[in-house]
Amino acid sequence: MMDEKKLKEEIEKRRTFAIISHPDAGKTTITEQLLLFGGVVRQAGTVKGKKTGNFAKSDWMEIEKKRGISVTSSVMQFDYAGKRINILDTPGHEDFSEDTYRTLMAVDSAVMVIDSAKGIEPQTKKLFQICKMRGIPIFTFMNKLDRDGREPLDLIGELEDTLGIEAYPMNWPIGMGKGLKGLYDIYNNRIELYQREDQGENFLELDENGEIKGDHPLKEESIYQQVLEEVDLVKNAGNEFDEAKIARGDLTPVFFGSALTNFGVKTFLDAYLKYAPAPSAHKTVNGTEIEPVQKQFSGFIFKIQANMNPNHRDRIAFVRICSGEFDRGMDVFLQRTGKKIRLSNSTQFMADSRETVENAVAGDIIGLYDTGNFQIGDTIYTGKKAVQFEKLPQFTPELFVKVSPKNVMKQKSYHKGIQQLVQEGAVQLYRSYTTNDYILGAVGQLQFEVFQFRMKNEYNSEVVMTPMGHKIARWIDPEQLDEKMSSSRNLLVKDRQDQPLFLFENEFAERWFEDKYPDVKLTAKL
Ligand code: G4P
Repeated sequence: MMDEKKLKEEIEKRRTFAIISHPDAGKTTITEQLLLFGGVVRQAGTVKGKKTGNFAKSDWMEIEKKRGISVTSSVMQFDYAGKRINILDTPGHEDFSEDTYRTLMAVDSAVMVIDSAKGIEPQTKKLFQICKMRGIPIFTFMNKLDRDGREPLDLIGELEDTLGIEAYPMNWPIGMGKGLKGLYDIYNNRIELYQREDQGENFLELDENGEIKGDHPLKEESIYQQVLEEVDLVKNAGNEFDEAKIARGDLTPVFFGSALTNFGVKTFLDAYLKYAPAPSAHKTVNGTEIEPVQKQFSGFIFKIQANMNPNHRDRIAFVRICSGEFDRGMDVFLQRTGKKIRLSNSTQFMADSRETVENAVAGDIIGLYDTGNFQIGDTIYTGKKAVQFEKLPQFTPELFVKVSPKNVMKQKSYHKGIQQLVQEGAVQLYRSYTTNDYILGAVGQLQFEVFQFRMKNEYNSEVVMTPMGHKIARWIDPEQLDEKMSSSRNLLVKDRQDQPLFLFENEFAERWFEDKYPDVKLTAKL
């Protein structure tokens, strides 16, 4: 065990974040660059085996392989500039699931990567809203500057309008695509010239008027004059740099760059590390806060990854450590059951390997091999004082299927499987109000596939799933509910707590309902 001074030092070194983005914006590419700075991978292109064949939905070997990869890349840890950085993966594409959302409960800040040709895309927006709700700092990287994209003013405007956050440009692109000359670095008061990789950094100093000192060919270019005017506008009419606002998540520093050519990434990382927070206190159910620096170890489980191989029934429970220090082999209490558990099988994740972790502190993520003890949202702790962290929020599912057992004679295993998988947080369960049919809800298709697979392999129950497609789920106050409100455009169901909600066909159906029943309040979860 470390003494308190050492523990404090270690915790203050931690920077734990997730990258939020829409698929293809460049999350993987920038992650690889960051890992390169950390000396973890020697060559870009090792994080995700891209172009190694298509993801076949029915092919479980593929999923298994894919899951295997995503387990090891779930958390990437590296050291850089005296800090220990934990990047948590937020799977997108076919892998998008409630776990993606829950991962954001385990980070202290977020990096939003945006494709500068596309601007804000739907998945970015969804993930952003969760970070905003948590009030964590959000840093923005406008990517793909080496390609022709949208005007920077336009991108900043859209960011502020669509997401409702103030933006502060840390730097400003000088040209783009083939005409990319560099970045006007407002924050560091310098110009960073665009160099292809391997050609090293090249910075120009600025004088007190913000112009290049001495002679330089860039001064003759019309784009240079244009950028001076734009920067002037941004400095005079834009938001002020405000650390307190950044810390609350009310203002996002915006960096431009190109992950692929590693341009502006280091500039981003250096500034990010300056303003990104170290682990802070976590709220418990009774309103108190658990400070990270203390002897008592505590943490919560935000994700459980099941093994897709039927020969290995083990699962990995991902724990965010909130306070104290983890040592392999230590005993902890599982708050939900009061049970004492020895944590001897722990793992930590590197870019392409798993390693047994001996020691970790608040801010770190550890994976625990689990044989069924843990559920998502569980708190574990040491010491005499019981700790229970706030419940993880429920997210509004968007995709629904009707589910039933293939073999009606096997009701027992069917119900047991559903009950356990739902409790674990793999999918959401609803029942139709009138017929009591089982309906499953998820935020991504993969959740259903994993559910179906695990039902068969872990509970020996084959299920039939009938897709119902996208629906808008809105809860209604039971007091206001009249069963006549149910129509062909919505389906009335109840959740696990027996709370009623409508599944609307589309936005039109929801609006129609709101017009018809103006006094009825409909609510979404997150
Ligand atoms: P993701 O994890 O967010 O889904 O994105 P990823 O990094 O895989 O990047 C998506 C594509 O965009 C990749 O293209 C990648 O090389 C490219 N890309 C990422 N950053 C930049 C950038 O700064 N500039 C340019 N020009 N391209 C960038 P890909 O591997 O060729 O294609 P594919 O995987 O889309 O087939």
